[in-house]
Amino acid sequence: MKIASFEHYKEVYKDSVNQPEEFWAGVADTFLWRKKWDKVLEWNFKEPNIKWFQGGKLNITENCLDRHLDTIGDKAAIIWEPNDPGEHHRIITYRQLYEKVCQFANVLKNNGAQKGDRICIYMPMVPELAIALLACARIGAIHSVVFGGFSAQSIADRIQDAQCNIVITADGGFRGAKDIQLKSIIDDALVTCPSVKKVIVLTRTRTPVSMIKGRDVWWEDEIKKVETQGATDYPAEEMDAEDMLFILYTSGSTGKPKGVVHTCGGYMVYTGFTFDTTFQYQPEEVYFCTADIGWITGHSYIVYGPLSQGATSLMFEGIPTYPSPGRLWDIVDKFKVNIIYTAPTAIRSLMSFGDDPLKAKDLSSLTKLGSVGEPINEEAWHWFDEKIGHGHCPLVDTWWQTENGGHMISAIAGVTPLKPGYAGLPLPGVQPVLVDENGKVIEGNGVSGNLCIKFPWPGMLRTTYGDHERCRTTYFATYPDMYFTGDGCLRDEDGYYRITGRVDDVLNVSGHRIGTAEVENAINMHSSVVESAVVGYPHDIKGQGVYAFVVCPNKHSDDELTRKDIMMTVARIIGAIAKPDKIQFVTGLPKTRSGKIMRRILRKIAEGDTSNLGDTSTLLDPAVVEDIKAGAL
Ligand code: WTA
Repeated sequence: MKIASFEHYKEVYKDSVNQPEEFWAGVADTFLWRKKWDKVLEWNFKEPNIKWFQGGKLNITENCLDRHLDTIGDKAAIIWEPNDPGEHHRIITYRQLYEKVCQFANVLKNNGAQKGDRICIYMPMVPELAIALLACARIGAIHSVVFGGFSAQSIADRIQDAQCNIVITADGGFRGAKDIQLKSIIDDALVTCPSVKKVIVLTRTRTPVSMIKGRDVWWEDEIKKVETQGATDYPAEEMDAEDMLFILYTSGSTGKPKGVVHTCGGYMVYTGFTFDTTFQYQPEEVYFCTADIGWITGHSYIVYGPLSQGATSLMFEGIPTYPSPGRLWDIVDKFKVNIIYTAPTAIRSLMSFGDDPLKAKDLSSLTKLGSVGEPINEEAWHWFDEKIGHGHCPLVDTWWQTENGGHMISAIAGVTPLKPGYAGLPLPGVQPVLVDENGKVIEGNGVSGNLCIKFPWPGMLRTTYGDHERCRTTYFATYPDMYFTGDGCLRDEDGYYRITGRVDDVLNVSGHRIGTAEVENAINMHSSVVESAVVGYPHDIKGQGVYAFVVCPNKHSDDELTRKDIMMTVARIIGAIAKPDKIQFVTGLPKTRSGKIMRRILRKIAEGDTSNLGDTSTLLDPAVVEDIKAGAL
């Protein structure tokens, strides 16, 4: 939605809250439906039961592809920049993308895929990853993308939970100087996944892989078969607005990651609307989101949001520091990027190299900047604004979550005033509230509390896969009739929102969500570990680092080696992204008489602030705290 001025935003916002159904029906009208909905919204946050655009029929890929063919068929849909700057980039027009998606949809069908099947995707950041998502959506299969940094065990957990029957992967993937053995990791995962009948393997790194007869097929061979069959089209499956589009697993404060479920109609409307609104995208602009499609940001703002709006979406295979810390800026100059959307952790990491990597970079094509994933500290905000935006590009800090589907609180580029460190004001249709510990709504400005949303929006999660009760207890039971975000938040005198971070046991490490309980479970799998407690601590680059207090009385080797063994264990169980930054061996953990670990104390010690640990008298063994303090890293 194009918004002309701050005044206009205020009007639109007011209408959107006063008449939400009319507002969202108007937005939904800008999309292509096979059949319009009968009812805009039905909801209660008790069960919860949330249905948007009921009775509506559509296919999201007709919105991302077919509807653009006559108007912008020759426009670049995806520009792909490889990891190695020496390799040639690729440009895929909307027409070409349409053809490739149809081809691969036929491949999926030939390999037994049906509407409603769950398909696991574990791939590097190559255009075929976007093609795989869209092909699943085209045939009505539900994709479950697993980020390339997760271990075989994590993949197996996710495949089993969703009972996937097909896996799409690649021989390997390039990320910086590393070459990740994706197929080999999949092979390890599949040992415990009997539901998987087919594995489709894309060639990327040409690393040797095992190919199991009857199960494993090459992407390229399957495409050739489709070509010989002469199948160039694939009529999109007609989906109900509330049919599942995808599952994406994300960490919470307890247990294993849960499968957040998004549905076809609402998610499409919300990602398209927020992409267009937040960035005020103009048709000729080149837009570059540096996220990985393994996370929600890549789903919503590399694939579905930009493509439904006919944008040119730049996709980068590598990492910002390879082969040099000027890489992102080289890409900006190479493709005359107008909008760059990245993460505070990337900004901080690039900042740490100083100004040298910026020499001889033009960057004059840039007109808008975006940030996502964690609170952006003011230093990083100003660096991004001044050194990259040269002071004339609005910088939108977009707050949202996997469960939200799209942006919730964010400035609108060039429209709403900016405040460094603040996500700002809610987007139209979003109704945030702050509540105190007792669930009482905190009115007025200049206040802080826990951030909730009191009214549904089309992109919200509908359930957690296979376990609706978990969805209810996690998000809708803490405060009655509200969606609880898990974030703490401040609303300043002007009504601007500043997210202060998670208030639950979820860490945000380099923008990746990691549950402390998950890491503890992984550490406890190590044979000499008795128990452990994991907390976050401030980390200059990652935002938060992982600090593990580990009780490990019978170390069989020296401390350093045992630390490495524990790291390896975590990498095996979850993935390298969850490895602790610090491991402190302790003789015991501070526990209350009822056995509850006092994390508050551990957090303070991890932060290096031991001046006031608060009341320790309720501890079973207060002496343990002194030991931990003395051994702090
Ligand atoms: C945090 C990523 C402050 C927040 C899209 C949220 C942010 C969690 C911001 C969701 C931001 C994300 N400012 N905090 N702009 N964006 N967060 O599900 O704690 O990977 O709850 O979604 O990241 O992480 P997720």
